[in-house]
Amino acid sequence: MKITSDGSHTLYVPELNEHYHSIHGAVQESNHVFIEAGLKVVDSGQWTVGRKRTIRVFEVGLGTGLNALLTYLEAKKQGIKIEYTAIEAFPLEKEIYTALNFSSVITGENVDAILNLIHTSAWNTPVELSPDYVLVKRHDALENIVLETDKYDLVYFDAFAPEVQPELWTEDIFRKIYNAMANGGILVTYCCKGDVKRAMKAAGFTIEKLHGPPGKREMLRGKKF
Ligand SMILES: C[S@@+](CC[C@H](N)C(=O)[O-])C[C@H]1O[C@@H](n2cnc3c(N)ncnc32)[C@H](O)[C@@H]1O
Repeated sequence: MKITSDGSHTLYVPELNEHYHSIHGAVQESNHVFIEAGLKVVDSGQWTVGRKRTIRVFEVGLGTGLNALLTYLEAKKQGIKIEYTAIEAFPLEKEIYTALNFSSVITGENVDAILNLIHTSAWNTPVELSPDYVLVKRHDALENIVLETDKYDLVYFDAFAPEVQPELWTEDIFRKIYNAMANGGILVTYCCKGDVKRAMKAAGFTIEKLHGPPGKREMLRGKKF
């Protein structure tokens, strides 16, 4: 476990020489890439009068649960419903997720309680964390799963970097995700490598380069039209 520049924890994987988040600020990075460039943008569509809007999110790599947590908090603020599906090949042990200090950096009530719900909820079945937030955690590897088609409005692509996990940044994987997305859906990722951009384009995405979080010049957003 390491403290990043905004005071929040991240995890380090020695075998890969890789962190779960930017060392320039884990919470800052997640907010910038996934909430500001993802959830807040996809949320700007049409609302049905008298009904809360539902956004279907798919996350690659649940990890510490930070993106699931920030999405929960932002959706509550905005009064929208979330169906959040996250895939994770290597779930964290209790000693690790209970030691994370996100509640000391993220303002809001019950941050630890929500993070605990995210980690202790059952795998491979929908769980209602609140009336407005349903979580499905899939314990599996992205390469091995079959995804439903035309479903997700928003994808958080938060795999380890292509340098250490090239098998997850391929055209085939991006095509699988593209097919699982609804028309008008967006995918956001912290990565901005040329190879990744090309793989996303070949899979069908229209790509935008955006300003990256602190410590990173750029990030990518892909749209399915
Ligand atoms: C960069 S970390 C990000 C984690 C998370 N989004 C967070 O905020 O903590 C990448 C995550 O992907 C998971 N992962 C690695 N290989 C995977 C695979 N083949 N399929 C699904 N998840 C995988 C890792 O265990 C790790 O939790």
